[in-house]
Amino acid sequence: MEHFDPTPDDRFSFGLWTVGNPGRDPFGEAVRAPLTPTYIVRRLSECGAWGVNLHDNDLVPFGASAAQRDSIVREFKSALEEHGMCVPMATTNLFSHPVFKDGAFTSNDPKVRAFALAKSMEAIDLGVELGAKTYVFWGGREGSEADACRDPRTAVARMREALDYLCEYVLDQRYDLRFALEAKPNEPRGDIYLPTTGHMLAFISTLARPAMVGVNPEVAHENMAGLSFVHGVAQAMECGKLFHIDLNAQKIGRYDQDLRFGSEDVRQAFLLVRLLEGTSGTERYSGPRHFDAHAYRTEDEAGVWDFARGCMRTYKILKARAQAFDADPEVRELIAEQRDAELEALTRGYSRDKARKLRSTSFDATLLAARGLRYERLDQLMMEHLLGVR
Ligand code: GCO
Ligand code: MN
Ligand code: MN
Repeated sequence: MEHFDPTPDDRFSFGLWTVGNPGRDPFGEAVRAPLTPTYIVRRLSECGAWGVNLHDNDLVPFGASAAQRDSIVREFKSALEEHGMCVPMATTNLFSHPVFKDGAFTSNDPKVRAFALAKSMEAIDLGVELGAKTYVFWGGREGSEADACRDPRTAVARMREALDYLCEYVLDQRYDLRFALEAKPNEPRGDIYLPTTGHMLAFISTLARPAMVGVNPEVAHENMAGLSFVHGVAQAMECGKLFHIDLNAQKIGRYDQDLRFGSEDVRQAFLLVRLLEGTSGTERYSGPRHFDAHAYRTEDEAGVWDFARGCMRTYKILKARAQAFDADPEVRELIAEQRDAELEALTRGYSRDKARKLRSTSFDATLLAARGLRYERLDQLMMEHLLGVR
């Protein structure tokens, strides 16, 4: 069906590292040949994506000279222009090189911390040069196995020091750039500091420039921790902190699987798309819809593009299903908000007088409790929309 084909208006993006993933895992070598960044740009645009994101070293190899960097960037920019693609987000690779084996910003070695900060400033320059408006921090190595090696409070304080420093750098350079922090509970470290989106939200409120910093929640990461991704994203949206999102799929409680969006837990994917698109009448998320996933290791290159199209197509199908669900009169009736103007006036905004009146109100708890909520019917309706029979 034509109707589910992605267009640039959908704001779908992929990382160079996602479709470029060669299928290497801890047990086996790469199964696919590397793809060049400019080739990825062309193929993604042909698939209907809008943006391409990158780590500094996805584009410019670690240790490249200034001249090499400039020529790579020039070539990449012309590919972006030729194919009408943009770079909405960029980030720093602070995890691959062995120097980061015990963390970057949280390392016990001040030389490593300083190197991580310098590398980040250089990578921020690169991201801004390519047009990025969001800069992600995923502290993959910021964690521990031998937990006695540092006080976890020190780790959090070092993260704060680094982010405060980089916020000032962005302001000093007059860059139009916001930071988005991505949490993950573990992998590659035994435990990673600031393990969930909720931890990140609390941490952000302790920064010197909290308005510049939001979150980049990832489906897989919250599921690894056994949490409701939809609730975490909703909390971020509710406080204006959903700056970016990493969409993929994951079986609960496992290693980071990075599966094609929507391929596991379709109910959750449906509720997520419904939330992001605001189909129930709530505010819509306007940022990039970024897929941080990769094709199965069984695939050749053709399978990679099947994977990319599948992510986008599933998102659009779920969006259409969510719109139909929220337009269904029976659904609307079941979730219609209950009103009681008199009591709501007493419970909204404390005053001594309201509290006094509220405490002298009598409630028939037995009657209130006796009412069935019809959530069985509601959930079945959701399933029927999802399964395409309604
Ligand atoms: C992972 C992470 C990464 C980050 C990426 C951008 O588990 O590997 O999800 O893919 O999202 O480094 O910061
Ligand atoms: Mn991610
Ligand atoms: Mn991940």
